[in-house]
Amino acid sequence: MLSFDFSTMVDSLVRKEDLEEFRKRKDEIYDKFNNSNMIGWTKAIDDDLIEDIYSVSNRVKKNSDCLVVIGIGGSFLGSLAVTKMFTPYFNDSLFPVIYAGTTMSSKYMSELLEYLQTVDFSVNVISKSGTTMETMITYDFIKKLMKKKYSKEEMQKRIIITTDAVSGKLREEVNNNLYTSFMIPEDIGGRYSIMTAAHLFVLSFNIDIRKFVKGYYQGKKYIDDAYNYAVVRNSLFRRGKYIENFCIYEERLYYFTEWLKQLFGESEGKNNKGIFPVSTVHTRDLHSLGQFIQEGNKIVFETFIKILNSDKVIYNNKNLHEVNNIVLESVRKAHYSGDVACNLITLDEVNEETVGELMYFFMMSAAFSGLLFNINPFDQPGVEVYKKEVRDNLVF
Ligand code: PA5
Repeated sequence: MLSFDFSTMVDSLVRKEDLEEFRKRKDEIYDKFNNSNMIGWTKAIDDDLIEDIYSVSNRVKKNSDCLVVIGIGGSFLGSLAVTKMFTPYFNDSLFPVIYAGTTMSSKYMSELLEYLQTVDFSVNVISKSGTTMETMITYDFIKKLMKKKYSKEEMQKRIIITTDAVSGKLREEVNNNLYTSFMIPEDIGGRYSIMTAAHLFVLSFNIDIRKFVKGYYQGKKYIDDAYNYAVVRNSLFRRGKYIENFCIYEERLYYFTEWLKQLFGESEGKNNKGIFPVSTVHTRDLHSLGQFIQEGNKIVFETFIKILNSDKVIYNNKNLHEVNNIVLESVRKAHYSGDVACNLITLDEVNEETVGELMYFFMMSAAFSGLLFNINPFDQPGVEVYKKEVRDNLVF
């Protein structure tokens, strides 16, 4: 279960007239959202997909020591964020998943190839377009290595491609070599693709994806909260709050904030508009960026993610987790006293269902927020600019 407090600085920083204006636009925004052709992620997924995913991941678990996931942006951050939330800090017993294709570091590549020579592995290449430079170059390297290591038949068991249903180089690769494949629906963009095989396949190795799927669709009940959050964010933006800091009190949520950064950054950052997303891990970063937030340039507002229940570790008659949450509330008060608006989102506990709910909530809110800014929250034309420069400058 999730709960919310977006009442921070309402009547002072967050102006009543802004709230009123945005609330009046609610029907218009919901209509725009419902008429978008990129909201496939709100539709129920097929039960057969879950069966197929488990049947392939069970095969991989039997024949491989690890899974190499090649993908970038919306094709990797969701599965990484969720996997990390469920990865124990010590004695990690999860099935090993290695991410590649997010960097052009030759050091990373040479060490990865060296390592992969010593283990049996399978690979999941994920790209909706099938053209992304980092993904395709990395896949080339890995495929060359696989050709030396495995027979054609063996490669067919070990290469899984997740891409568009009909078009693109990767779909051709599937058709030409009879590789196992999953598809990313046309009406779902990368950063909204958590409920597709792009992420569910990777997650199936280590979490109960049935529970995750269930929680995700439960997130629909928070649609009005998602709108309220978008309204408060947009009101704060109007008062010069151009940066949103996501504050977490559990290190394991770090990659979740990376996912949030992509979700909001790519959805809103257009036409010279948008709120720049950053994150801090507390209490660690209170001893660094905490100073800026408390007393520096007042361009920041914050959204705290609180977990109500966690492990019991007693310190002086108090559960350490209780201490963690007392610190969270104290920091909110302190920052508030420094004129920083502090939203609060609370999860009962971290489990597959609540994480699913939370992701649905944030995705709805990013979409609403983009629509309130009068921009398209589902495209990312700015990313193409660097891709074109690279294409022009890199000739093989
Ligand atoms: O959110 C998005 O759509 C982007 O971040 C893409 O996921 C990213 O650019 C990777 O694209 P592709 O899956 O086509 O390789």
